[in-house]
Amino acid sequence: MCGIVGYLGNRNALGPVVDGLKALEYRGYDSAGIAYINGGDCRVIKKAGRVEALEKLVRKEKAVPKLALGHTRWATHGAPTTQNAHPHFNHDKTIMVVHNGIIENFQVIKDRLTELGYQFSTETDTEVIPHLIEYHYKQSGSFEAAFEKTIQELEGAFAIVAISSLAPGQLFAARLSSPLVLGVGEDEFILASDPSAIMEHTKKVIYLEDYELAIINHDSYKIRNFDRSADVKKTAEELDFDLELAQLGNFPNFMLKEIFEAPQTIKLATLGRIRPASGTVKLGGLVDVKEKLKLIERIIIVACGTSYYAGLVGEYLIEELAHIPVEVQLASEFKYRFEPFSPSTAVIAISQSGETADTIAALKKIEGRHMLRLGIVNAVGSTIARMTDAGVYCHAGPEQAVASTKAFIAQVCVLAEIGLHFGNGKMKDRKNFLRELDNLPKKAEAVLAQADKIRKIAEKYTHFQDFLYIGRRYGYPCALEGALKLKEITYIHAEGYAAGEMKHGPLAMIDKHFATFAIAADCPLIEKIYSNISEIKARGGPIVAVATEGNRQIKKMVDDVIYIPKTLEQLQPILVAIVIQLFAYYAAIKLGRNVDRPRNLAKSVTVE
Ligand code: M6R
Repeated sequence: MCGIVGYLGNRNALGPVVDGLKALEYRGYDSAGIAYINGGDCRVIKKAGRVEALEKLVRKEKAVPKLALGHTRWATHGAPTTQNAHPHFNHDKTIMVVHNGIIENFQVIKDRLTELGYQFSTETDTEVIPHLIEYHYKQSGSFEAAFEKTIQELEGAFAIVAISSLAPGQLFAARLSSPLVLGVGEDEFILASDPSAIMEHTKKVIYLEDYELAIINHDSYKIRNFDRSADVKKTAEELDFDLELAQLGNFPNFMLKEIFEAPQTIKLATLGRIRPASGTVKLGGLVDVKEKLKLIERIIIVACGTSYYAGLVGEYLIEELAHIPVEVQLASEFKYRFEPFSPSTAVIAISQSGETADTIAALKKIEGRHMLRLGIVNAVGSTIARMTDAGVYCHAGPEQAVASTKAFIAQVCVLAEIGLHFGNGKMKDRKNFLRELDNLPKKAEAVLAQADKIRKIAEKYTHFQDFLYIGRRYGYPCALEGALKLKEITYIHAEGYAAGEMKHGPLAMIDKHFATFAIAADCPLIEKIYSNISEIKARGGPIVAVATEGNRQIKKMVDDVIYIPKTLEQLQPILVAIVIQLFAYYAAIKLGRNVDRPRNLAKSVTVE
């Protein structure tokens, strides 16, 4: 989704703003732009396409401005053209605005301003903002007041940053349902959609909350609640973000780097939390709600995309380890659904970014219903992390590639830990379970060691236009996730199915042109999976399978096998995930896709 950067300080503002836009590229975008104030003038430079192209134009600038803003746009209203790219401005280019989100009442505002003689040159909702600021500025003569008045009139979801030659030493920002972070450096301030654009400059940050706006001067800042028209006191907090982890190192792209971080991800998600010797699990993030947890009789997991599939694994895990009924719902459905709730229901929101609009909306829906809201979040300090009553961080480090990989692995680890935590002794062999979890990083390394073999197999299947992923029990969510990985980075059509459903429809599609990826790791239903595989083979369907080391039988049944080390069935999804991620990755590379930034997708989906 769109990325925002703003800078006010002693350096040439163009450097940190362009670097910030590069750091935010992973969020997905289709055009970029910057604006700066130099002396009394505003200048704007925009370009459809990549930040690289914008940077070439910016490098030609002779000015050394101290105040600038930038934006990467992911089109919602209007085509991804240079014209529609941000920043947007008023008629004489004295006010520059960048915006992330959607202004729901933009048409009403546009009609009103048009009647007053204002003219618009883009199809975007954002363009109403600079014009409305101008309108209010003409009434009050104060830019600060005009900015606040404008923000108060906007409906929808937004993060907005503005600069103006009418207030040449100030940076303005506001947020409602879209993230915005203020970095407080030595003699400088950096505003951004997320900390990755800030952490190079400072680790001191202030997270703006909903209904907050910031007015930043060279040596001070003021935060106000624009709903209550009142000042808010906020001090900077320390950012828990490892710069090293966010850099590429020797990997050709972030997706491969992040897949290869699987062993470390498991370690970080379990470190200090699991004690195999005593069979105990300690989740510091749940201590504050210890008493409330004892009353929980039902759990609803809400999430989107890969996090939703991790949630489905969690359903099996928590029901088996804690004997509590679990239901997993897509956040986008949950928020519009009517269902009876009781205070003995806990809602767990799972999100890598912690900024997914639908998941945030799902949590907002149950506000005030006296239900416990827990989070399984990767991005520290993100909106979901802050709006839940308690939670467990994934500690996977920054995930930059659009396709979620290591976050899924961390989420499943955390769900297993939560299952044991809730279970409180209900599982018979906890020590063995925890020993297995503790040993999993080594097994993940063994899977990664087969990367080249997986590459060769994946490359054999790139000419297929259709793929079916099948699995049972813990393998079923893996099938769904495998299909999602393949479609999002290769653009090959793929569907995930419960293998037991084959005869209820999907079998009709199978022929020699329709490939299947079977999750066939050892489990109590392995014989039934063999039957499904045989039915597909009998209809000429090519099959690649992931199976447990030592399974010779499957070799005779399918075209290609990728083996994972033996582990407990409940932990297989973690090892299977690495296989399906590498399979999709190598297929996408063979097809020449941009794996880190697949077309039409954004890393964090901050609008509905
Ligand atoms: O940040 P979140 O975990 O809330 O994101 C949810 C989905 O948008 C995300 O998992 C998406 O499906 C990924 N691109 C999948 O790889």
